[in-house]
Amino acid sequence: MCGIVGYVGRRQAVEVVVEGLGRLEYRGYDSSGVALVGLDGRLGVEKRAGKLANLRALLAARPTMEATVGVGHTRWATHGAPTDRNAHPHTDCHGRIAVIHNGIIENFAELRAKLEADGHKLASETDTEVVAHLLEECAEEGLAEAMRRVCRTLKGAFTLLAVSLDEPDVVVGARRNSPLVVGRGEGENFLGSDVAAFIAYTREAIELGQDQVVELRASKITVTDFHGAPAPTRDYHVDWDASAAEKGGYDYFMLKEIAEQPRAVADTLLGRVGPEGLLTLDEMRLSDEELRGINKIIVVACGTSYHAGLIAKYAIEHWAGVPCEVELASEFRYRDPILTRDTLIVVITQSGETMDTLMAVRHAREQRSRVLAVCNVNGSTVPRESDAVLYTHAGPEIAVASTKAFLTQLVACYLVALYLAQVRGTKSGDEIAGIVARLTEMPSKVEEVLGTVEPVRKLARSLADERCVLFLGRHVGFPVALEGALKLKELAYMHAEGFAAGELKHGPIALIEEGLPVVVVAPSPTGQRVTHEKIVSNIQEIRARGAKTIVIAEEGDTAVEPYADTLIRVPAVPALLQPLVATVPLQVFACELAAAKGHDVDQPRNLAKSVTVE
Ligand code: M6R
Repeated sequence: MCGIVGYVGRRQAVEVVVEGLGRLEYRGYDSSGVALVGLDGRLGVEKRAGKLANLRALLAARPTMEATVGVGHTRWATHGAPTDRNAHPHTDCHGRIAVIHNGIIENFAELRAKLEADGHKLASETDTEVVAHLLEECAEEGLAEAMRRVCRTLKGAFTLLAVSLDEPDVVVGARRNSPLVVGRGEGENFLGSDVAAFIAYTREAIELGQDQVVELRASKITVTDFHGAPAPTRDYHVDWDASAAEKGGYDYFMLKEIAEQPRAVADTLLGRVGPEGLLTLDEMRLSDEELRGINKIIVVACGTSYHAGLIAKYAIEHWAGVPCEVELASEFRYRDPILTRDTLIVVITQSGETMDTLMAVRHAREQRSRVLAVCNVNGSTVPRESDAVLYTHAGPEIAVASTKAFLTQLVACYLVALYLAQVRGTKSGDEIAGIVARLTEMPSKVEEVLGTVEPVRKLARSLADERCVLFLGRHVGFPVALEGALKLKELAYMHAEGFAAGELKHGPIALIEEGLPVVVVAPSPTGQRVTHEKIVSNIQEIRARGAKTIVIAEEGDTAVEPYADTLIRVPAVPALLQPLVATVPLQVFACELAAAKGHDVDQPRNLAKSVTVE
């Protein structure tokens, strides 16, 4: 949830750290701060509540502290309000050690009570501050050893970075259940919550494992476990550069990421379709025999990724004939799901760091089920802990609201469903090749939608004063409706609900009143004839009760025309693939409406990109 940067090298540390924080601000933006180990022997700590701009202004007003070692933090508050005092870094009693943290230290209350009983003075309400004082207690052992000792006493999830005046040339980091990567430079090294923290300086990264401590010096990186034994790590090259994480002329990252969707979809298909239209998912790491033995699939995810999972269910059951359930990761392990060796868990996560999803993976593997991760971030924790992975190739997604990741998750799920159909023989080679051929047309179909969204923008602006918008859908249009509502909630802070259109008459229709905008995702009239007829009736029912109907319908669908106050056209595509085109106008709608209301589109209130707490 929080963004973390560490630097040791030859440059002005404050510049490197603040540049990194700028790229990580999407992880949390309640407050931010830096700690610099000054060449003059002082520890400079500056921090401010609010967005990074506040910290930048504070730093600009002070003389620059000469320092080549430093850490920085951008916060998503858990313990303690987002105030200056609770902002990170936190220091020990003597102001010689500074600590930043992502995660939650679950036993902080008892640690704090003991520290206070021993005479320590704690200044904030955070769980983090105890770590600075615990490090102070064993400072004579050296910072890395002190960190190892402290980590052994902590419960919960944490990434920690610490600097100390006693060792002015080192940053020490530690991680448990929370992300931390190393950036390897020449005569300089970096730490970050993710590679965006240092992508402007190096693309060579080191993946740290669970329960590891890293001692970072300008020319040396030492990694151990919490007991001091040398620990294995994996080096990798980051295949995108700094420009991929910049706005590139767009007003918001979200707009840029919406526009990148045709490419993201194409990249996710790339290299996965063989010469005869059959699929080759080489990196899957599950044998065909294992896949043939699967008798149940449970898709587990959160938020937008969960909506992708709901759509995956239709594809998996329809094409591969395997029973499929979809579950919210935050609920999954608390209801004793029945899992066996023949259950395949498909987890979907953009970040690969969502704690609810990670805990679901661990639970499933403890029950001996196999786990396949659909993930966008190479080397992140979820794919590392899963049996198999299918990476989406959306590139870095910076806006908190997920867009291109969603479309690529859909593509990856279609590929999984078709691959299962291929190995289990539930579809013939020709049938699979036919569907794959339609799938490969999708980048241009998405491009087509992007070319026609201007009226959607206008519509969004005209609805900026509404208090509520409902979304209806049937079949795969139902999860699209849920996704449209989620986007509007998180960006425009409006009451928005998605319903299965058939459920209307069981209650939600009571919400319909004069002028209420209702967005209806109409299914394909050819691919889903029965549900299409039914949704046309639903549109009439709500219109008869005064709703303002906004209908997303395929080109050529004339049946909806008489009942749509506003018609949004999308290209005709096979029914199961419709979410790839129908979601795009809803993304644009939410983005534009939020902008019209003056909201921060990329950093909506109370949210963070990556939710690394349960
Ligand atoms: O990184 P993940 O895909 O695991 O994240 C899951 C959700 O937190 C995420 O999709 C969230 O719902 C988005 N902000 C929605 O736009």
